[in-house]
Parts: sequence; structure tokens; C-alpha cells
Amino acid sequence: MERTLILIKPDGVSRKLVGNVISRFENKGLKLIAMKLMKVSREKAELHYSVHSLKPFFSGLVSYLISGPIVAMIWEGDNAIISCRNICGSTDGSQASPGSIRGDFSLNIEENIVHASDSQESYIHEYPIFFNNNEIME
Ligand code: CMP
Repeated sequence: MERTLILIKPDGVSRKLVGNVISRFENKGLKLIAMKLMKVSREKAELHYSVHSLKPFFSGLVSYLISGPIVAMIWEGDNAIISCRNICGSTDGSQASPGSIRGDFSLNIEENIVHASDSQESYIHEYPIFFNNNEIME
């Protein structure tokens, strides 16, 4: 069993896509083991995206993540990381396949509805930024 962190970013929440996004992971057979609606602090957003800290889009990325409420979730299942990334689609919504979340709802790379951990290492770095261990259903 593998776990992955999924964020529904501010554009996904403000566009009322929360139910639609959650359904896709449920329909795939993944198990929801943690979830919260929250505003992210600048400090947490910078830590979450620290791998991008030297990129030119870093400050815009952080400002965007803290611009409104997000939904943070942990999903569990066989090969959960790659399964969820396939459900999300390519990072740039304009390139993402129809049928994926970004392919259906996003036209660009900045406002792309969801974040999904890209590896086990990323998940280990990311999930404690959003959850305490006692908030995860074992
Ligand atoms: P996410 O999956 O949250 O992980 C990092 C984010 O950086 C990514 O989604 C995109 O929203 C964003 N990103 C990646 N590349 C670029 C880019 N070239 N310009 C702006 N944003 C980017």
C-alpha cells in the first residue's frame, strides 16, 4: 500500500470542483485517510514548494497557494502516487489529456486545480506540512 498527498488548490475550491475531484479518486478505488479544508501560511507554502525555490515562478506559486482555502488530503492504495498523478493529468492543463482533472478543468500551468506528490520522497516531505500523524486514519 502506498500513500500520496493531494491538494485541491485555491482555484479548484473557488470553482466548486471539490466534490468532482474527490469522486475521481474514490471511483478509482483509492481510500481517503485524511482530509481538511484550510488556509495555508506563507511559511508552509514555501516549505511545500521548497524544491522549486530557485525557479523564477516560485514566488507566484507560493502567492497562489496562499490566496484562498485549499483541501488537503491523503489517499492510500496500490501504486497510489502514479495512479493519482494519472488522474490529475499533465502539469500544464493545456497539455493534459481530456478525462484527467487538469485536462477537463485547466488551461494553463499556474492554475492547475490540484497538486499530487510526485514520488515517495516528496510524499514524506509534504504530508507533515499539512497533517499531524493523529489526523490520519489508520
Ligand atoms: P504542482 O503539481 O503543484 O507542483 C509544482 C507547481 O509548479 C506545479 O503544480 C505548477 O502549478 C507550477 N509550475 C511548474 N512549472 C511552472 C512554470 N514553468 N511556470 C509556472 N508554474 C509552474
